[in-house]
Amino acid sequence: MKPVLAITRRLPDAVEKRARESYDLRMQDGDEPLSRDQILDLCKDADAALVSVGDPIDAAFFDALPKQVGIVATFSVGTDHIDLGAAKAKGVIIGNTPGVLTDATADIAWLLILGAARRASEGEAEVRNATWSSWRPTHLMGTQVTGKKLGIIGMGRIGQAVAKRARGFDMDVHYFNRRQLPKDQEFGATYHSSIDELLPHCQFLSLHCPSTPETRGMVNTDFIAKLPNGAIIVNTARGDVVNDGDLIAALKSGKLTAAGLDVFAGEPNIEPAYRDLPNTFLLPHLGSATVETRNAMGFRALDNIDAFTQDKDVPFCV
Ligand code: DGY
Repeated sequence: MKPVLAITRRLPDAVEKRARESYDLRMQDGDEPLSRDQILDLCKDADAALVSVGDPIDAAFFDALPKQVGIVATFSVGTDHIDLGAAKAKGVIIGNTPGVLTDATADIAWLLILGAARRASEGEAEVRNATWSSWRPTHLMGTQVTGKKLGIIGMGRIGQAVAKRARGFDMDVHYFNRRQLPKDQEFGATYHSSIDELLPHCQFLSLHCPSTPETRGMVNTDFIAKLPNGAIIVNTARGDVVNDGDLIAALKSGKLTAAGLDVFAGEPNIEPAYRDLPNTFLLPHLGSATVETRNAMGFRALDNIDAFTQDKDVPFCV
């Protein structure tokens, strides 16, 4: 008999195929976000659960989770949708997928940097809406990226991959991280031991820190005031690192030139004012959304579950 695996969302074909070969699956036909109770219902005779970003894997979930479910593997590197303390208290292993989404996410950070700086949303809208009148010297002038200063908060794998790409744009890169990295992981970037010290150097700022009690709401009016006037912020980390009201005020006042956002507090129900601002370049949490990366994330999640169901050490767990 195959072990039973509860899966909360549709997975890429190749991942679903592999899951079906090894497990008796409990999953929905559609692809809607499920409530806590619906997920628990899928889990009622399961040995393991495979969940995704945004699923409510909170303390109440662990309270009601049947005892035989010994692993919850998330199809993500981020675990902020999971109450890790409650999981630990119940002895449930939490698997995640570090390492395989580094390049895809760094690429999206760059798409945001370029899209926000070069007014890509406004330009694309003109072409699509047939409102592009002519080539003209003053048309949609943006901000040059090449040669500017880029700040990175959080120099983990993704931050490093962003810094590496910045060398191709001749940028002067600065970073803050809890600890200074060895030279070969800095990609020529200059270390700052505090965020306050970093911010004045950031004509562009890319966020790569997890959502934690310390970082939630970090990008607020005081923080933004320390950036150079006209700076551009991009976020591929987590939406709640930003105080939306303060960011929107800075985008309206001109303190910030633009923002590129792939993640939002409360997504997909984003702060509506973002939609009306011409100087935002907005994506629906696509950081890891390439076929190659989503397959690799799914396989990593299944590797974690395979190890657990075969009584081996779970390779990627928090
Ligand atoms: C993650 O894995 O945490 C990402 O946000 C998904 O793209």
